[in-house]
Amino acid sequence: MRLITSLVALTSLYTAVLAADNGLAVTPQMGWNTWNHFGCDISEDTILSAASALVANNLTQFGYEYVIMDDCWHAPSRDNQTGAPVADPAKFPNGIKDLSDKIHAMGLKFGIYSDAGTYTCGGRFGSLGHEQIDAQTYAEWGVDYLKYDNCYNEGLSGTPQISHERYANMSQALNATGRPILFSMCNWGEDGPWNFAQNIANSWRISGDIMDNFDRFDDRCPCTSVIDCKLPGFHCAMSRIIDFAAPVGQKAGPGHWNDLDMLEIGNGGMTFDEYVTHFSMWSILKSPLILGNDITNMTNETLAIITNEAVIAINQDAAGSPANRMWKRSASEGGDLSLWAGSLVNNTFVFALLNTSPAEQTVGVDLADVFFDQGKSYQTQAYEVFDLWQKDGAGSWGKSIGIIQGGMNVTIGVHQTKVWKAVPAPQANTKRNYAEL
Ligand SMILES: *[C@@H]1O[C@H](CO)[C@@H](O)[C@H](O)[C@H]1NC(C)=O
Ligand SMILES: *[C@@H]1O[C@H](CO)[C@@H](O)[C@H](O)[C@H]1NC(C)=O
Ligand SMILES: *[C@@H]1O[C@H](CO)[C@@H](O)[C@H](O)[C@H]1NC(C)=O
Ligand SMILES: *[C@@H]1O[C@H](CO)[C@@H](O)[C@H](O)[C@H]1NC(C)=O
Ligand SMILES: *[C@@H]1O[C@H](CO)[C@@H](O)[C@H](O)[C@H]1NC(C)=O
Ligand SMILES: *[C@@H]1O[C@H](CO)[C@@H](O)[C@H](O)[C@H]1NC(C)=O
Ligand SMILES: *[C@@H]1O[C@H](CO)[C@@H](O)[C@H](O)[C@H]1NC(C)=O
Ligand SMILES: *[C@@H]1O[C@H](CO)[C@@H](O)[C@H](O)[C@H]1NC(C)=O
Repeated sequence: MRLITSLVALTSLYTAVLAADNGLAVTPQMGWNTWNHFGCDISEDTILSAASALVANNLTQFGYEYVIMDDCWHAPSRDNQTGAPVADPAKFPNGIKDLSDKIHAMGLKFGIYSDAGTYTCGGRFGSLGHEQIDAQTYAEWGVDYLKYDNCYNEGLSGTPQISHERYANMSQALNATGRPILFSMCNWGEDGPWNFAQNIANSWRISGDIMDNFDRFDDRCPCTSVIDCKLPGFHCAMSRIIDFAAPVGQKAGPGHWNDLDMLEIGNGGMTFDEYVTHFSMWSILKSPLILGNDITNMTNETLAIITNEAVIAINQDAAGSPANRMWKRSASEGGDLSLWAGSLVNNTFVFALLNTSPAEQTVGVDLADVFFDQGKSYQTQAYEVFDLWQKDGAGSWGKSIGIIQGGMNVTIGVHQTKVWKAVPAPQANTKRNYAEL
């Protein structure tokens, strides 16, 4: 009898530990969020217009499916009878359930925002201590995704255990609703969520908020590494977040991803090549791809970047293995060059070269570095290599640049990233036919 009781206790503990086992984000989630472009200036119309544009631009065909309403959707206070969250009646005259129904009717999924603190970052009511009623209300509203922020957390951080408990409380409340709700944890990397959040969240932010800028240093994002960062802050330049992400790829995988923050592509603060770098690196590092621009008013260049299906396929590859940085070298002009490589399904591979320096560079890419992890036979064999930012004859992204063995010399522009897929070449392709000689 005693044994049975403790077995039951163990079983329920086990269940609680696996609270984020919700079957979601098997590949990194894709969608759109209001914050980067609209900030607090949102309404039912902002969100429905974006949802329509997502469909009209065929972005759903590329995998973008979540429409996420960030901060500032709230009424001044909760329902004073029930304690349930209430939406701003002026911004959302038909309520949130109606909005989510309309988004579902377009074939999309609906996301909401709250905060594991007393207030949200925008000063609205937070969910700390209200986890059950908030999760239950979101489920009733038809919510499919929760972005859960970290402002005003009452000091409930500082050790992984305290942070874990605060976020696990919401994770368990979401699970208890019975509705699968993707849990996107946004604690800015505090206390190292890559070490403790795999079982409670589908993704976790690793750093302070992104800024729509390539490499400007800003004191409001003061840390030089995310390991033991005490003030994640905000205004983190895009290329700094790439540096932050380099060591933590080892902790991500299907159902639990490092979130490098929402995309800035199309918001105007970077050049075309810089946005290509942004999209390429977020993709190969297996970050969620959450658009943050005004998708009702995009340039063709923006649309071209965010619909590169060959790069998206790397992000969504079933192996779910983030690329690793194989080397980083300083450039004499400032900035650096770095080589990244990762494994894909079916014995195929991705590698990328990033130039953060202000000058064009010619770089020798040695396959011994690309295939360092795989060993000698992989380092020396021949590969058919596809440049994923060039189109093939049929107009699809991913042009074969031929059979490569040993290495290649690459010229790479200012702030550019090149991404290649490598497929081991069949023997027939590496040796010429007798008949050809
Ligand atoms: C809740 O957690 C259990 C145990 O991990 C899991 O089997 C179940 O699918 C989860 N339910 C939801 C709705 O997330
Ligand atoms: C969307 O796809 C449809 C059908 O494939 C096509 O006719 C239409 O031109 C596409 N629209 C855009 C904006 O790409
Ligand atoms: C409770 O909320 C209602 C509706 O917003 C308001 O009319 C009423 O004055 C509030 N009651 C208290 C005690 O705050
Ligand atoms: C988690 O929830 C429990 C039960 O409601 C509560 O006692 C505890 O303080 C919460 N922990 C944190 C860190 O919010
Ligand atoms: C559309 O974008 C352009 C710049 O890309 C901007 O000048 C224009 O104001 C925008 N239109 C609307 C309606 O937001
Ligand atoms: C975008 O491309 C389409 C055709 O692909 C063209 O009709 C349209 O004028 C272009 N828009 C801009 C702003 O260049
Ligand atoms: C991997 O190989 C399997 C079996 O041949 C095939 O069904 C699948 O489409 C391949 N996946 C990719 C991404 O090429
Ligand atoms: C790359 O350039 C170096 C120096 O010019 C040359 O020695 C080497 O053979 C080149 N490698 C390839 C693969 O072309």
